[in-house]
Amino acid sequence: MQFHGTAKVNSIGHLEIGGIDTVKLAEQYGTPLYIYDVALIRERARSFKRTFESLGIKAQVAYASKAFSTVAMVQLAAEEGLSLDVVSGGELYTAMAAGFPPEKIHFHGNNKSLEELDMAIEKEIGCFVVDNFYELEMLNDLCLAKGKQVNVLLRVTPGIEAHTHDYILTGQEDSKFGFGLQNGQADEAVEAALKSKNLKLLGVHCHIGSQIFETTGFLLAAKKIFEKLNGWKKEKSFEPTVLNLGGGFGIRYTSEDDPIPASQYVEEIIDEVKKQAKRFDMKVPEIWIEPGRSLVGDAGTTLYRIGSRKEVPNVRQYVAVDGGMSDNIRPALYQAKYEAILANKALEEPEETVSIAGKACESGDMLIWDLPLPKAGSTDILAVFCTGAYGYSMANNYNRIPRPAVVFVENGKERLVVKRETFEDMVRLDLPLEERVNK
Ligand SMILES: Cc1ncc(COP(=O)(O)O)c(C=O)c1O
Repeated sequence: MQFHGTAKVNSIGHLEIGGIDTVKLAEQYGTPLYIYDVALIRERARSFKRTFESLGIKAQVAYASKAFSTVAMVQLAAEEGLSLDVVSGGELYTAMAAGFPPEKIHFHGNNKSLEELDMAIEKEIGCFVVDNFYELEMLNDLCLAKGKQVNVLLRVTPGIEAHTHDYILTGQEDSKFGFGLQNGQADEAVEAALKSKNLKLLGVHCHIGSQIFETTGFLLAAKKIFEKLNGWKKEKSFEPTVLNLGGGFGIRYTSEDDPIPASQYVEEIIDEVKKQAKRFDMKVPEIWIEPGRSLVGDAGTTLYRIGSRKEVPNVRQYVAVDGGMSDNIRPALYQAKYEAILANKALEEPEETVSIAGKACESGDMLIWDLPLPKAGSTDILAVFCTGAYGYSMANNYNRIPRPAVVFVENGKERLVVKRETFEDMVRLDLPLEERVNK
């Protein structure tokens, strides 16, 4: 198996990450446990930034914090000079609690509330990515009332949807997000934004999908947007200073995945933007991107303790772990695939093929089907790779299972960055029936 980042097998045959024995981490912090390879996150961030810098392009690399939003992670993004994409009051609050520079925060979302917009205006964040007419009006009215001006990008749907190797041209632009580029909505939104004294229109944003392994979709989106920009330049004398092409860069979850390096996405995007700008005699705008998964996905590993087994004769062996869809809902939600090893038997050859079941009361709570493993029992620790994105951030308390702790590892040092939830946390917000209280 090809390991990610600093992961390797140490001298006693255990999986080591960031210079720390993961079996020891499991003993110390309990399981399930999320571990993040900080050096790998830094490397990923630097490679995106370096490519823009080396090509002399003004850019912002905004970490899409929905992938994994905690105070420590946001602080790490700040250390690496990233900007930050937030999509809710909660993510914005986390960013502020982390001391993230507000001017580098971009606020997304298709249904931002009045309170969320108000909070973001008060915090003087860097940019609002406006998604629809309802928000455009609400933001304008709020700014007017407060006597403030804010930066905005308009999110457009260019009619391209990309998934892994495929990209689909969706003529009807059927998406809950953004202003349709072809159906007149984007033109109307630009008109309204330009009219407002309280909104400073920087440019446009699009996000065409996730876990994308090719550049074609990004390039096509840039081309379609520029064709529209050309019209706006002529008709409205508007030229953007910013073009945000979103996130979605693919990573290797399993040996079936073969992503291209971050630098290649960036280089090809820059080439296309330059080409289109030249084609329409426009200035090359600042390019913003919003990687989430590709910054933190393969830096995360989840450790579980092996528990019960069930054999269905002649069919399969189920091996259950002490977590599952409560800490990683992706397999249940969209059949996501993962690879795993026994962290304490990292050098041993597989002896059997098992299917890894979660502990939740759902038949669909299966983490991995048909995984070759050495003989696994209750003293063993399963390490599932590539769980860094949309794992913790989508974790839930189904079956009142407490959410795991999160530990950062780097250069032989570990740091607990999220505490494990307790059973007390499970009832912390619950209120008893009134009459029982009085008895
Ligand atoms: C607007 C926007 N930007 C960025 C991202 C990050 O995508 P990824 O984690 O695939 O890079 C998403 C993911 O849903 C998104 O909706």
